[in-house]
Amino acid sequence: MQVVFKIVRQDQNAAPRVESYPLEVEPGNTILDCLNRIKWEQDGSLAYRKNCRNTICGSCSMRINGRSALACKENVGSEVARFAPNAELPEITIAPMGNMPVIKDLVVDMSEFWTNLKAVDPYVSTASRQIPEREFLQSPEEREKLNQTGNCILCGACYSECNAREVNPDFVGPHALAKAYRMVEDSRDDRTNDRLAQYNSMAGVWGCTRCYYCNSVCPMEVAPMDQIGKIKNEILVGKTGQENRSIRHRKTLIDLVKQGGWIDERQFGLKVVANNFRDLGGLASLAPLGLRMLTKRKLPMGFEPSEGVKTVRSLIESVQAFEAQSRR
Ligand code: SF4
Ligand code: SF4
Ligand code: FES
Repeated sequence: MQVVFKIVRQDQNAAPRVESYPLEVEPGNTILDCLNRIKWEQDGSLAYRKNCRNTICGSCSMRINGRSALACKENVGSEVARFAPNAELPEITIAPMGNMPVIKDLVVDMSEFWTNLKAVDPYVSTASRQIPEREFLQSPEEREKLNQTGNCILCGACYSECNAREVNPDFVGPHALAKAYRMVEDSRDDRTNDRLAQYNSMAGVWGCTRCYYCNSVCPMEVAPMDQIGKIKNEILVGKTGQENRSIRHRKTLIDLVKQGGWIDERQFGLKVVANNFRDLGGLASLAPLGLRMLTKRKLPMGFEPSEGVKTVRSLIESVQAFEAQSRR
């Protein structure tokens, strides 16, 4: 079949341009096979990364038809079936990953990706390794807990699509936080409490907007957003909500939904931002919004609990009981 590859090409600090490369391909050809042929047969100046050609090294991440994916994993047939099923001459667009500056064509500068990974101390504590008399063994059950996060091949697809990273330069990114959870869960590591304090205070777990995009693009099913949620749950155990606004936000939201089946917005701001009248600065910051809502008649005067409040409460309690059980 004939396919046109539309490749976004760019030199450092220059405007991107799109170049088209027609190619006769088989549906089973991977995108990487096609890029290789374009480079070898049509344009030797095309730059992209590759290594294993087998979904192992994580080098060939790029945006394929708008989402980040591995070029050696995706194939022409499924791209055409998904994005141009009825086109006479299907097109496949290829672009560099997002959230990282372009060096050339599809090659991006991943320096910050690695720096952010380093920021979560992504290695088992050295102190734990200094056990003098015997090897530090793990049971199969303990090891199994690390399987999902251990599958990360650091390809950058999640980081490329992370909208929290896009707007918040302090957010370390889903790859780093998935690794952070692996460290929290590792039975050999003796820094769990320190780590939780570190991940709580750094612009990390609480910066995630829960958009699910990292889960959806990850080629190894690491589900970074789920791992971020697990770190949050660990942090929240035993916390009262006084510690910081992020913790208060999470706890208040759950408490209010348990009470009323949905959120009583009158209480929400006062509890979270004003910390139940303890934070006078927070309280003052609410005043202009409250006043505007009042004048526009948008301030809710009463609160009516949801008819399904009992069901909602029992669902939340079941999930909380399940989470407590899994932590044991
Ligand atoms: S979590 Fe998934 S998408 Fe993110 S770097 Fe690891 S393998 Fe790639
Ligand atoms: S779920 Fe969170 S970490 Fe994942 S892409 Fe969205 S904002 Fe980023
Ligand atoms: S070339 Fe190694 S993952 Fe694609």
